[in-house]
Amino acid sequence: MSISYFQTANTLITGSGSIAKIGEQAKKFEAKHVVIVTDSIIKQTGLLENITTPLTNQEISFKIIDKVVPEPPFENLEDMIQELESDNPDMLIGVGGGSALDITKLLSVMLTNKEDVRNFIGTDKIKNRGIPFILVPTTAGTGSEVTANAIFTDVRDNVKKGIVSPYLLPSAAIIDATLTLSVPAKVTAATGMDALVHAVESYTAIKAGELTDGIALQAIKLISRSLRTAVYDGNNLRAREDMAMGSLLAGISLGNAGVGAVHALAYPLGGKFKVPHGVANSLLLPYVMKYNVISNLTKFKEVAIAMGENVEHLSLRDAAEQAVHALAKLSEDVGIPASLQEVGVEESDLQDLAEEASKIDRLLSNNPRKLTRNDIENIYKDAFGV
Ligand SMILES: NC(=O)c1ccc[n+]([C@@H]2O[C@H](COP(=O)([O-])OP(=O)(O)OC[C@H]3O[C@@H](n4cnc5c(N)ncnc54)[C@H](O)[C@@H]3O)[C@@H](O)[C@H]2O)c1
Ligand SMILES: [Fe+2]
Repeated sequence: MSISYFQTANTLITGSGSIAKIGEQAKKFEAKHVVIVTDSIIKQTGLLENITTPLTNQEISFKIIDKVVPEPPFENLEDMIQELESDNPDMLIGVGGGSALDITKLLSVMLTNKEDVRNFIGTDKIKNRGIPFILVPTTAGTGSEVTANAIFTDVRDNVKKGIVSPYLLPSAAIIDATLTLSVPAKVTAATGMDALVHAVESYTAIKAGELTDGIALQAIKLISRSLRTAVYDGNNLRAREDMAMGSLLAGISLGNAGVGAVHALAYPLGGKFKVPHGVANSLLLPYVMKYNVISNLTKFKEVAIAMGENVEHLSLRDAAEQAVHALAKLSEDVGIPASLQEVGVEESDLQDLAEEASKIDRLLSNNPRKLTRNDIENIYKDAFGV
C-alpha cells in the first residue's frame, strides 16, 4: 500500500441550524473584528443575518465586503485587498458558493504574504500562513470549504488556474443546508452535478485509496438520490440536506484523491466560453466516463450501484457502462446542455480547446486512463456531436 496524506478543514460543523454556532466558533479563535466576504446576490437574500446575529451576540464586530463575482478573475482579489487591509480584521468569514469561498481563502494569505497573487499559481507556492478564516458554503457545491485549492480565471490568457496550499484549508467550516434553500434551480443543478463529478472522479482517480473510497461512494449515493428533488422542489429540506452532505463528502474525497480529465477538459470551457464550472463538468462527464470506463470496470460498477441502478443480472462490463448511462440521464434530467454546440462552441474551436486541456498535467496525470492530445480532441468531438 502506498503512502498517502489525508487533510481537511480543522473543524467541521454540520446539520440544519448549525450556522447559529458561528459566533461561538469565531470566539474560539479570539476574533474581535471579522470581515464577511460574499457577493451582492447573497447579501440581497438576507442570508447574512444568520451570521451577523450570532457574531453580535458574542460582541464581535463585523464588516461586509460583497464584491465577489462568479468564477472570479485575479483582479477581483486585487479589488478587495486594499479595503481589507485598511479594515485590519483578525478573522475572515467567507459566505457563498465556490467563488466567494475561493476568494476568502486567498485574501487570508494575501494579508500575510505581500506579493503578486499570480506568484501563488501552482502547488505549495504560498510562504506564510494567513489569518484564520471560517467558510460557510451556500451552494452544494464545490466542496471548496474542505479543499486546499482555489481556482481563478486569468483574463490574460482566458484560462482557469489553480492555487494549491495547505494554508487554504479553513480553521472551520459550517455546512448548513438551510442556507441553500434559496439557490435557484439552474444553479442547484450545475453545482450539484459539480459535486457528483468530484465524487465520481476522485473515486476512480489514480490517487484514490481506502481513506477516500467510502466517502466518495456515500457522496454518490446521497447526490444521486436527491439532486432531482433539490432542483425541482427547492424547498425540500431533506433533499437539500442530502445535497449539502453529499457535496461536503465529495469535497473531502476530492481534496485528498484529486480529480481528473473531466475537470481538465472543463477548465478551457470556463476560461474561454464562460461556461459555469458545474455546467462544463456535467456536460463533459458522460463523454469522459465513456472513455474511462474500461480502466476499472469494478469501480464503475460500484458507481452504478451507488447511483441506485439495478445491475444484478448484468455482466461486469454492462454494469460498469450502466454508470455512464445513469450519469448522462441525471445530467439530462436536471436540464444541463448535452452538447458543446449548445454552449456556444464551434467545431473550429475544438483543436484549441484540446491544446489548452492537454497542458493541465496536474489533473490529467490523475485520470485513471491516460489521454493523448488526440484522445482529448476526440472526446471534445464526441461532446460536440461530430
Ligand atoms: N476550491 C475548490 O476546491 C473548487 C472546487 C470546484 C469549483 N471551484 C470554483 O468555484 C467556483 C464556482 O462556485 P459555485 O459553483 O458554487 O458558484 P458561485 O459561487 O459562482 O455561485 C453561483 C451563483 O449562485 C448564487 N448563490 C450562491 N448561493 C446562493 C444562495 N444560497 N441563494 C441564492 N443564490 C446563491 C451566487 O450569488 C452566484 O450568482 C468556480 O470559480 C470554480 O472554479 C472551486
Ligand atoms: Fe469542480
